[in-house]
Amino acid sequence: MKTYSYTKSQELFKKAADIIPCGIYGHFSPAPLIPASDYPFYVAKAEGSKFHDVDGNEFIDYMCGYGPMVLGYSNPVIDTAARTQRKNVNCATGPAEVMVDLAQELVNTIPIADWAFFAKNGADVTAYSLMIARAYTGRDKIIRLKGGYHGTAPWAQSPNHHGITFNDANDIVIGEWNNYDDLEKYVHKHKNEVAGIISTPYHHPTFADNEYPADSYWKKVENLCKNEGIVLIVDDVRTGFRLDMGGSNEYFGFKPDLIAFCKAIGNGYPISALVGTNDLMNAASNVFHTGSFWFSAEPMAAALATIRELKHTNAVKKMFDTGTKLNKGLTEIAKDHGYDLKITGHPAMSYYRITDDPSLMLHQKWCGECTKRGAYFTSHHNWFISAAHSDEDITKTLLIADEAFKAIKK
Ligand SMILES: Cc1ncc(COP(=O)(O)O)c(C=O)c1O
Repeated sequence: MKTYSYTKSQELFKKAADIIPCGIYGHFSPAPLIPASDYPFYVAKAEGSKFHDVDGNEFIDYMCGYGPMVLGYSNPVIDTAARTQRKNVNCATGPAEVMVDLAQELVNTIPIADWAFFAKNGADVTAYSLMIARAYTGRDKIIRLKGGYHGTAPWAQSPNHHGITFNDANDIVIGEWNNYDDLEKYVHKHKNEVAGIISTPYHHPTFADNEYPADSYWKKVENLCKNEGIVLIVDDVRTGFRLDMGGSNEYFGFKPDLIAFCKAIGNGYPISALVGTNDLMNAASNVFHTGSFWFSAEPMAAALATIRELKHTNAVKKMFDTGTKLNKGLTEIAKDHGYDLKITGHPAMSYYRITDDPSLMLHQKWCGECTKRGAYFTSHHNWFISAAHSDEDITKTLLIADEAFKAIKK
């Protein structure tokens, strides 16, 4: 099996490093891709489950743009809906009718939702959710959980990161995932001070195994919030529309007050959403939050089409089944080569780790060897399955994985 080279990607990156901070910043940065020489940096085109890099190499994409691609790149149904809307209006001096249609679709689809609000990025709506919780309760403190990611706003970062001060996180308290007793103790110690608890529906940190909630964890947290007048916020930015169309809380059997969505909601078109219950509608109206492009109609039309298409094609089940097949195949191949591949999280967005080497070097090498044979894997982050990944993709991926295990053994 031929392995890829990335001459043009590397040339472009060298040029970019002189004129763009970090060359490529944030989660697309080559920094966590180890060894970086195994990865492409720039994409030339993308269709279905695959993309081509600027050197002409083709990849079955298991990162899906880090989540937004859910129905396949250049999906004709979504692109047609977006194009049709754009021809009429995208950015103008007022929202288009599609904004109301999209809000109605979310209210009809998500059991806890009585209203919906739209922005661009996940961080826009997680920030808005905190403002609503504070406006509603008149309290200051927010509890978030260690290892949970909610965007790059200063409140959501660690105070020892560059550009962040201790004051930025003054009223942010950090608890531990799946530790109900700890949460309860804190809430009782600071009675009537906690406005909201924000958490992902299950724990999907980077560089660590992902973790489901313990039995009854979420029901106990929901009851604690109800009894203490705390707003329960689910950050479904990464998990949303991959576990359950009604919000990932439905998958785990509990009811939050607010849910933040982004990534998969528009199949790659830039849009995020916050949905909430009637109780919070007034507080949500009182908070001032807006942005230059938040009323763009094209991404709203794309999101409306994406949600309808996800439902119409039963995509959530398809992604679960495809991910389950991939995981079973990878586990068996690893075992055949004498390795233990640990897989955690939901099958549509699992996290993978070869346990035989705690330094992660072996795992990083295996992911790189797969990537340079055409299955784009990262070693530090959960992967993503889309509804466009086919049985043929899985078969080819398993062949690549087999070759990659042979390569790391050498
Ligand atoms: C769980 C979660 N919350 C929030 C965010 C922030 O979203 P954005 O990068 O669109 O601001 C992310 C992004 O990866 C995320 O995974």
